[in-house]
Amino acid sequence: RIRASQQQQRRRPEYVPNRIDDPNYVRIFDTTLRDGEQSPGATMTSAEKLVVARQLARLGVDVIEAGFPASSPDDLDAVRSIAIEVGNPPEGEGVHVPVICGLSRCNRRDIDAAWEAVRHARRPRIHTFIATSEIHMQHKLRKTPEQVVAIAKEMVAYARSLGCPDVEFSPEDAGRSNREFLYHILEEVIKAGATTLNIPDTVGYTLPYEFGKLIADIKANTPGIENAIISTHCQNDLGLATANTLAGARAGARQLEVTINGIGERAGNASLEEVVMAIKCRGELLDGLYTGIHSQHITLTSKMVQEHSGLHVQPHKAIVGANAFAHESGIHQDGMLKYKGTYEIISPDDIGLTRANEFGIVLGKLSGRHAVRSKLVEIGYEISDKEFEDFFKRYKEVAEKKKRVTDEDIEALLSDEIFQP
Ligand code: KIV
Repeated sequence: RIRASQQQQRRRPEYVPNRIDDPNYVRIFDTTLRDGEQSPGATMTSAEKLVVARQLARLGVDVIEAGFPASSPDDLDAVRSIAIEVGNPPEGEGVHVPVICGLSRCNRRDIDAAWEAVRHARRPRIHTFIATSEIHMQHKLRKTPEQVVAIAKEMVAYARSLGCPDVEFSPEDAGRSNREFLYHILEEVIKAGATTLNIPDTVGYTLPYEFGKLIADIKANTPGIENAIISTHCQNDLGLATANTLAGARAGARQLEVTINGIGERAGNASLEEVVMAIKCRGELLDGLYTGIHSQHITLTSKMVQEHSGLHVQPHKAIVGANAFAHESGIHQDGMLKYKGTYEIISPDDIGLTRANEFGIVLGKLSGRHAVRSKLVEIGYEISDKEFEDFFKRYKEVAEKKKRVTDEDIEALLSDEIFQP
């Protein structure tokens, strides 16, 4: 499977930064610094946000949503610093210039703050949103659908009138909004100048086939949609954010909104590393889609975001968890030692992971003879078959009592069993 994905990558057209004309190219919009920062307890200082933004640019994300400038003077400053520095890399051929984006509600004060922050970037974007589901319009906004359409149109046009060349519009809670109403509001904001239409599943309510159909229906029924990019923004309340995002991409979305480690409001967002690696690994089943992400920077980026946000991923987190490339059971370890493709669909090198040992073997009570013997060789011990059988019995007794057997445990066992007079 690894080989198939490598061949497929070779067939892909050469990646050109900021490419917008290839129908198979999927833009990655990273909102770690905005939606990610909305995770309880994840606030970052301006300096931390700048460090993370630099790393996101290195990773090759197409759009960095750097914050919500109207939310506080500090956030406005943070987004402005990112726009000035990360949004203006030194000129040169092939240099990646990320879009720097600021979020705003559909009102002039928010839009002014967003523009003040992002206008310093070479490729600035304002992202403005208003809720479109019945439940939000009635209970939160207390506005009629007609009023909501009028506000959306006016505010998109206002953002464009400030000189912002790139305006993204989100109908918040699109996953629970009436379809005909969505087609209508999207048509109107396209006419008002929106360049990207983001479709948020704000409460992570949809199922993958349902979200895919939502994107396909919007693509088929919204007049003027061919002049804009369709985007996904999937929250993870039912644990379906990655699956929904991929279903959206398959149905025609060409921008995917994600966060590093999947952090974000409540149960978080679709995670960049999962979405990007699924596209990289299984691109052939996704009609040949590809991204511009330099995946070898994923591990470091994940670690940086864990450190700065204070949110640590669980050990079994896909792609970046401590156990994601570790093998403990005897059957798996035996397979790995014979051929790594038996239990690994991604090479650790692809995400820039260096493991403590080549095969990712961790010793525990489920480990078998093959793995334990390899460990002895790895740490420099050659013992006879008879000695090994005695040793292995003792190993199993110790391993029963411990979560992990370390190199030091092995050394101690060897000195007990074999080298004692
Ligand atoms: O979840 C959501 O709906 C959002 C929008 C502002 C895109 O974060």
